[in-house]
Amino acid sequence: MRIVLVGPPGAGKGTQAVRLAKELKIPHISTGDLFRANISRKTELGKLAKSYMDAGNLVPDEVTIAMAKDRMEQEDAVNGFLLDGFPRNVAQAEALDELLKTEKIKLDAVLDLEVPEEEVVKRIAGRRLCRNKAEHVFHVTYTPPKAEGVCDVCGGELYQRDDDSEDTVRTRLEVYHTQTEPIIDYYKAQGLVATISALGAVDEVTKRALDALKRDGDEEK
Ligand code: AP5
Ligand code: MG
Repeated sequence: MRIVLVGPPGAGKGTQAVRLAKELKIPHISTGDLFRANISRKTELGKLAKSYMDAGNLVPDEVTIAMAKDRMEQEDAVNGFLLDGFPRNVAQAEALDELLKTEKIKLDAVLDLEVPEEEVVKRIAGRRLCRNKAEHVFHVTYTPPKAEGVCDVCGGELYQRDDDSEDTVRTRLEVYHTQTEPIIDYYKAQGLVATISALGAVDEVTKRALDALKRDGDEEK
């Protein structure tokens, strides 16, 4: 399957992507995680991306599209992928369509995670990530690690993202509404959007997402 995950910052895209990717046996491709890996390796791309990310703005399309394309063309993504955080504006959605057309493949679904703004703010404020692996994500009250500041999975140090400060989150939410939300209409016109509530326990949301994807698949038959 080829799936795009969309939703505001803190909706739980990363949390759900890890589970859905495992269940559907496709790689999880997060442009945010790819940028953060570049930042920690101190690459030129990382330096450029950091200046935009710290302000809560989008990294320019040209470098983002090139990076996403490069990742989607890797061996493990031949039979499908789950995109998390890409595309993030209509220009990126159009670039993805072009790429898919060249490869003669199609998206199966766009899963839209709906969460009220006050919940998103709470989720972001309590989020802690593992220095060793981007996919080990915790929340200080909702899904706390057994020992404070230590990753349950690998023992790595937990940290707070630089762009999770109150001011930056406000900008990220505004960028989501003005630049990213229009892609939902773009994909609705292609009949691809399945909207689900991302409220409730992590497992419940995963179940809702899998049911929605299955429903979509059944309708196409
Ligand atoms: P990115 O890393 O994609 O961040 P984002 O979209 O702002 O989303 P987040 O990662 O903050 O939230 P999430 O939805 O993944 O939530 P999570 O699962 O962690 O992008 C960061 C920046 O990179 C952008 O601002 C931009 O600068 C740049 N960038 C990236 N892609 C780009 C692109 N295509 N073009 C241009 N620039 C780009 O969950 C949040 C918290 O909630 C966690 O603590 C989690 O444990 C908890 N949680 C999750 N689910 C639940 C639940 N059901 N109940 C309770 N708690 C929960
Ligand atoms: Mg994320």
